[in-house]
Amino acid sequence: MIQPKNLNRRDFIKETVVAGALATAFHESSGLTASTPASTEGPIIVGRKVKVALIGCGNVSGSYFPTLVASPHIELVSTCDIIPDRAEQAAKKYGASRHFPHIDQLLAGPAFDLLVNLTDIQQHYQINRLALLASRHIWSEKPLGINYAEAKDLLEIAKAKGVQLLGSPTVVASPQFAFMAQTIRDGKLGRVTAAHASYGHTGPSWSSFFYDKNGGSLFDLGVYSITTLTGLLGPAKAVVAMTGIVTPTRNITGKGDVRVVAEDNAMLIMDHGDGVLSHIQSGFNYYTAREHSDTDPGHHTLSVVGTKGAIHLAGYDWGPHGVDLATRETGGRLERKATEAEGYQWQGGAVKMAEFLATGVRPRFTAPHAAHVAEIIAGAHQSQATGQRIAMTSTFAPMVL
Ligand SMILES: NC(=O)c1ccc[n+]([C@@H]2O[C@H](COP(=O)([O-])OP(=O)(O)OC[C@H]3O[C@@H](n4cnc5c(N)ncnc54)[C@H](O)[C@@H]3O)[C@@H](O)[C@H]2O)c1
Repeated sequence: MIQPKNLNRRDFIKETVVAGALATAFHESSGLTASTPASTEGPIIVGRKVKVALIGCGNVSGSYFPTLVASPHIELVSTCDIIPDRAEQAAKKYGASRHFPHIDQLLAGPAFDLLVNLTDIQQHYQINRLALLASRHIWSEKPLGINYAEAKDLLEIAKAKGVQLLGSPTVVASPQFAFMAQTIRDGKLGRVTAAHASYGHTGPSWSSFFYDKNGGSLFDLGVYSITTLTGLLGPAKAVVAMTGIVTPTRNITGKGDVRVVAEDNAMLIMDHGDGVLSHIQSGFNYYTAREHSDTDPGHHTLSVVGTKGAIHLAGYDWGPHGVDLATRETGGRLERKATEAEGYQWQGGAVKMAEFLATGVRPRFTAPHAAHVAEIIAGAHQSQATGQRIAMTSTFAPMVL
């Protein structure tokens, strides 16, 4: 369940008034809004902007840079990419004073507080680790690392160094997630028993790492659904999965045909304890009417079922449009709820991290949750390799159930 101890209503109201945000009547009555922080602490960086460096100036950086440079809390200091031209172009376009071709040079360059890591999935751990050891705060794209051992190592280094570590996805910060969590907490679904989520498209064409060892649809796409469903139903106790490769070669821009090594088709079942089960499917061979776009307001991607009702998320959990709720009270009719974004943006995690450093307002996404999700995905791969049900060793403080 959403932990009441995490809600500091006075600080929350102060924050939202400052931000000019309006809470809806539903949220006012419940005390929970999309912008409700997990907690409010003292600021970590005082009296100046948070100095940010960004590594990995590829596809997703085009969504991140505008949010970073628009933030009043951020000064963009440096960019970095192993393709030097990308770092240079990004530095020019977004006003960073320096650009570098390697993490070592970036760390030795002008001082910065927060590293935003948008590199390939397989590079995250080593880059996060080097930057944490250099006492930098980290915002990492998903996953933190490719298994729990790597993610746990990062958590331990961050703690030892006294720096903050957070990572994508940000899905638990959306108002639609808050509504689903609140609906479950209020008992409107009765006893929650099962959930399902599906996320796929025809696969990225711009980089081969998605199809290389330790890439795959679960780390790129299923990771969102796993974060949402563990957020709503609680940590997984065990997982079973089957994965496959449907398309053995892919044509990648600038590279030609590459062999697909990672799964491009995955089915995962999570056991949340007390008989509660959820199922997630992800893949790089899915027809969807609007491809990877989040513009379809009717498309249900995630459902949670209980003994008295069901909720269906309209749109992807990273860009949701609303929640369709059916209960005995609605006579089984679907009613659309939580239709406002309330400032939520999937690419806004690094800005939320900088705000946290500058104001002490901790976002709702946490590193232990991200580490648990990494263990689930590694467990899915282990289950496929061994045919076994894989017990999870990690947990996190759940907001729901
Ligand atoms: N593209 C999207 O829409 C999207 C959305 C959400 C999350 N993500 C995630 O963001 C990450 C990056 O995805 P992308 O689509 O931008 O990939 P991309 O290939 O377009 O960009 C990755 C960039 O990182 C650089 N890079 C790789 N290794 C490096 C290293 N060791 N040091 C410095 N630079 C390095 C590459 O040269 C490249 O420019 C992945 O984790 C992906 O899952 C992507």
